[in-house]
Amino acid sequence: MLRNKKIVLLVTASIAAYKAAVLVRLLIKEGAQVKVILTPQAKDFITPLTLSTLSKNPVLSEFTRGNSGEWNNHVELGLWADVMLVAPASANTIAKMAYGLCDNLALAVYLSAKCPVIIAPAMDLDMYRHPATLANLSTLKKYGNQIIASNYGELASGLVGEGRMAEPEEIRDFVSTYFSKNLPLAGKTALVTAGPTYEAIDAVRFLGNNSSGKMGIAIAEALANQGAQVHLVIGPSALKTENPSIKRTDVVSAEDMWKASESLFKQADIAVLSAAVADFKPKSVQTKKIKKASGFNSIELVETVDILASLGKLKKKHQILVGFALETDNEIENAKLKIKKKNLDFIVLNSLNDKGAGFKHDTNKITIIDAQNKIQKFELKSKQEVAQDIVTKIKAYFKK
Ligand code: CTP
Repeated sequence: MLRNKKIVLLVTASIAAYKAAVLVRLLIKEGAQVKVILTPQAKDFITPLTLSTLSKNPVLSEFTRGNSGEWNNHVELGLWADVMLVAPASANTIAKMAYGLCDNLALAVYLSAKCPVIIAPAMDLDMYRHPATLANLSTLKKYGNQIIASNYGELASGLVGEGRMAEPEEIRDFVSTYFSKNLPLAGKTALVTAGPTYEAIDAVRFLGNNSSGKMGIAIAEALANQGAQVHLVIGPSALKTENPSIKRTDVVSAEDMWKASESLFKQADIAVLSAAVADFKPKSVQTKKIKKASGFNSIELVETVDILASLGKLKKKHQILVGFALETDNEIENAKLKIKKKNLDFIVLNSLNDKGAGFKHDTNKITIIDAQNKIQKFELKSKQEVAQDIVTKIKAYFKK
């Protein structure tokens, strides 16, 4: 959820500032870009060097840089951020934020920000309970800021009570949930099929194809990045998936893929079938290895279940069904026929005639054709970018 998200982290003068180091590490690990701003007093609690090393960005604290007279542009920083985090937020900074004071760079960035602001207070229990602090927090909430309530526990003073900053993991999860709830496909469920299928001939041999699963995994990632809960049903593939919003079911044959997909489709709002499913399988499978000496030289084949066409028959009005077509001749016409035959909302056509497109490559070149016969041709792009183009098309159906 946090991949490529731009986060400005304001760290203020509280002993919990030491936890900012862990927080930065967790955010970076999730793929976020983090820029840290320290209030001048926060530097007594944690060094800029620690946070710049972890965030891989310079840490700012003052309005100007050294004696050069160069300005640290707080407006630019405020506009750069997708989200601003204030963690730890001291009683002093919370009060200043509530009153719109601006006597340091961190506060100037806060006042310039157009993005959502999430505040994690940290202070001693009496300061936290003080009517002035409670009133300031309530003012900040009224201004649209989000507050991550402090935890109950042992405080730096030795007292036990409320005021302990939420743990870095809780803050990371809060930010992550915030993004997922506000994403265009939040609340939607998607089924993606990917990879090849293997159809057994005997105990050791199979019919398969060159699909790596890369395109399908990129689609699953792109859907998850837009907030969808994704279920990926994937044939034999060496590739891994690590996104927690993607549930993965590994299958082998077309029959397995169909069994896994049929029930998942009933709950899905979106289904993208990118798997290179074998169209035929051996009529019978030998349980033992077939010996050369047996004179075996032909395999009788029968058709596999067409998963896409079968889901097309089950499809309800609210569901978006997307298929792929891999063609070599009469590409557009064949793809259009597949839209009708399989009851699709749109089809993603890739041609083996295009250099860099198709199996095993990191790139693909697609044409999207929809049920209204609208045709969109795309350049050769990375499979991640292609996946984003497909997901942009999917998102448009939910805007209608
Ligand atoms: N597909 C499927 N089940 C199959 C075969 C294909 O779900 N048994 C899906 C693929 O995942 C893809 C689409 O159907 O989304 C198109 O596959 P393709 O092989 O191009 O088309 P076919 O319908 O098999 O037709 P043909 O081989 O004649 O081009």
